[in-house]
Amino acid sequence: MTDTWVIVGASRGIGLEFVRQLLQNGQHVIAGVRSLSKADQLHELKSSCTVPERCIIEECDITSDDSIQKFSNKVGEAVTSGLRVKNIVLNAGILHYPNRATEISFSDFALHLHTNTIGPIICARKLVNLHPESPPCKVVFISSDSGSTTVFRDDEDGFGAYSASKAALNQMLRHMAAELTRRGGKWKDTCVLAMHPGEVQTDMANIDLGWEVKGSIQADESVAGMLKVIEQKDETGSFWCWDGRRHPW
Ligand SMILES: NC(=O)c1ccc[n+]([C@@H]2O[C@H](COP(=O)([O-])OP(=O)(O)OC[C@H]3O[C@@H](n4cnc5c(N)ncnc54)[C@H](OP(=O)(O)O)[C@@H]3O)[C@@H](O)[C@H]2O)c1
Repeated sequence: MTDTWVIVGASRGIGLEFVRQLLQNGQHVIAGVRSLSKADQLHELKSSCTVPERCIIEECDITSDDSIQKFSNKVGEAVTSGLRVKNIVLNAGILHYPNRATEISFSDFALHLHTNTIGPIICARKLVNLHPESPPCKVVFISSDSGSTTVFRDDEDGFGAYSASKAALNQMLRHMAAELTRRGGKWKDTCVLAMHPGEVQTDMANIDLGWEVKGSIQADESVAGMLKVIEQKDETGSFWCWDGRRHPW
């Protein structure tokens, strides 16, 4: 069996950087993207890889139950043909700025919840349940410090729906962690983690905020840090920063 990482939301930014570093480290990757025809950087990365077969690219629109199911089926087929899903990273996310509680539309709030909360959880639960004898070691959700309820960032004007969607993600993934532990069997060894990637200079961060963002980092530094954290931390249902500091829920 060949150990494989699944990265969902891999067309650009942090997700693309996960794929880049994993391929550089000699890993096998199944990369999920919203649209195969709008993932040029990922296709180029695969072509430039010394062994392109180590990267499988599949469609996964995280806002579509049908698309998630087809993606899960494809991952299942890959497992049947000899790959083992070792780690899963649910990275896809959106931030439509601003998304204030006093101004948000029904549809924009729903889009934040579908993309940042419901889709990642449904995708993870389908992948986790694929093979009872060989569930993944780590299920990692890319959350945000904005989703912490104990460190409430009331200065983040325009982040209402985004932070609510990440707070809901955090709560649901903690239930996933507890349920897998209770379920027993091999699932009790699956470790569910939430991660804050830092303030990362990606398209998502390319917005004109009304405050100064301190300590911005590049995607390569963020992902290198997160890969170390994913390897080292094994406390299921825990929340970590990219640099290894524990994050309060
Ligand atoms: N950047 C930061 O400072 C920061 C801070 C805290 C947390 N985060 C979190 O980190 C994660 C990655 O963010 P980023 O900074 O890399 O943002 P980004 O550059 O905007 O990339 C977002 C990624 O999510 C994908 N995505 C969005 N909607 C999707 C859908 N419906 N189905 C599948 N994929 C979808 C995008 O695909 P398309 O190319 O198809 O749009 C893209 O690959 C997000 O969950 C974000 O909330 C980022």
